[in-house]
Amino acid sequence: MVAPGPSMAELRVAVRAALRAPDHGRLLPWRAVVVPDGERETLAELFARFARDVGGTDEDVAIERERAFNGPALVAWVARIAPDVPEVPPHEQWMCAGGALANFVNALHLMGYGAKALSGRKCRHPALAQTFCADGEQLVAFVCAGTPARRPAPRVVDDADEVLSLWHGSRA
Ligand SMILES: Cc1cc2nc3c(=O)[nH]c(=O)nc-3n(C[C@H](O)[C@H](O)[C@H](O)COP(=O)(O)O)c2cc1C
Repeated sequence: MVAPGPSMAELRVAVRAALRAPDHGRLLPWRAVVVPDGERETLAELFARFARDVGGTDEDVAIERERAFNGPALVAWVARIAPDVPEVPPHEQWMCAGGALANFVNALHLMGYGAKALSGRKCRHPALAQTFCADGEQLVAFVCAGTPARRPAPRVVDDADEVLSLWHGSRA
């Protein structure tokens, strides 16, 4: 992904699409945090710390560092799943957080940008998670967005009948 990337105004439009995700109980179990260019170096240090903590080589550390500069726009996706809402169990809240992420990415695609969610083990690294999350929140992924430098690979499954069927409950 290369420049130009979505502006802050375009990111706000994509967030409004994300806000349309199905949300049982309107719990809003997610939020998004933009990483501005001026903070990329700080993020790079945290990525490097993760690589060192998991025993990475100098090369691994350098690769992780570089990832903080990927994509002209970078947005952290944070889930905040309430564990004790009887009517809305955690899996439904995860569906909402994921649906919101998909709406966000698709909105950016419709604007002509490439956008992709990337996570990896580092999202669970305490130093990194803590800098984005408050108590009870989890860092899910980073959405990297910009102008695609090459065509995305086609999906392996692109046939609705692979996943769409008719229910035959009366025959059971
Ligand atoms: C929460 C989340 C985290 C993801 N993390 C990664 C990742 O770390 N690495 C990766 O290659 N794809 C990851 N993906 C998948 C990509 O975002 C993308 O969907 C996948 O590479 C397929 O690309 P396509 O959507 O263009 O077909 C993740 C997806 C989600 C929803």
